[in-house]
Amino acid sequence: MIPTPLLRPRRLRKNPAIRAMVRETSLSPEDFILPLFVVEGENIKKPISSMPGHFQMSLDHLAKEATEIQSLGIPAVILFGIPAHKDACGSEAMSANSIVCRAVQALKKAAPHLYVIADVCCCEYTDHGHCGKLVGQDVDNDATLELLQKQSLVLAQAGVDMVAPSGMMDGMVAALRVALDGAGFSGIPIMSYAAKFASGFYGPFREAAESTPQFGDRSTYQMDPANGREALREAALDYEEGADILMVKPAMPYLDVLSQMRAAFDIPIAAYQVSGEFAMLKAAAQQGWLDHDRVMLESLLSIKRAGADLILTYFAKEAATKLG
Ligand code: PBG
Repeated sequence: MIPTPLLRPRRLRKNPAIRAMVRETSLSPEDFILPLFVVEGENIKKPISSMPGHFQMSLDHLAKEATEIQSLGIPAVILFGIPAHKDACGSEAMSANSIVCRAVQALKKAAPHLYVIADVCCCEYTDHGHCGKLVGQDVDNDATLELLQKQSLVLAQAGVDMVAPSGMMDGMVAALRVALDGAGFSGIPIMSYAAKFASGFYGPFREAAESTPQFGDRSTYQMDPANGREALREAALDYEEGADILMVKPAMPYLDVLSQMRAAFDIPIAAYQVSGEFAMLKAAAQQGWLDHDRVMLESLLSIKRAGADLILTYFAKEAATKLG
């Protein structure tokens, strides 16, 4: 005989009203940060084939985009620059006239209230595609810190609101903090890509940012996908070095790491739903195998439920439109 259940969770699922009343997590356009790719030139809006709806954009298009982003209620963007010239140490990234510095200025002019974050890394600017200066076949950690300091200073001078170092160099948060504070930019926060894994899910981004390593891979600086405890250690180091926000990247394959970081730290946690996560949902939806809007919102909700306060996502505009 089957006993009559005494406890019936289904009571609270009976209709939309009660389901809404007991819902634990909700999404809002304010949760999102939209990544943007900016290139030299004029009137360029070149589609990125593996990321439908995303483009490499010249400054004129970026300015138009800014107003639309703002009107959707998305508070922030994160910029990635594709320079005209690349060299061994990514000199373009350290120029006050770099494509990202000019993009910061263009965005601030077009949409003064849009919060502008800049990714701080060398890989889009180096001819070898690695995230710093090389010694032999590997990235020289401490020499790269100096490049990252210079890069963040030109960005600060250009008026960026926040810097986000993504190169997984040891000591990068402290290096940036010292450089920024020393130049009078103590008010600029650092969002650290604290637990960034050496992931296959970055594939489409590397097409978008033209930053594929020309030899080898990033496993000597980005984290081994197998390591959860080490991710917490990386986060603890960045926290101690003064990071204002800690990020986990990618998001969906690392929700366990995200949730542990949320529990371990008292500062905001960000998650980056990366290009490959976006591309696979888009591709399946285009085939008619998944319901686009449903999986888009479910993926973002899961990331938020796991503990993200901020979500970097290529779905920002579509999700904001849907939620709005
Ligand atoms: C640059 C950087 C990468 C991403 C963000 N910043 C690429 C990489 O490490 O190869 C990936 C973002 C994405 O896949 O959407 N260091």
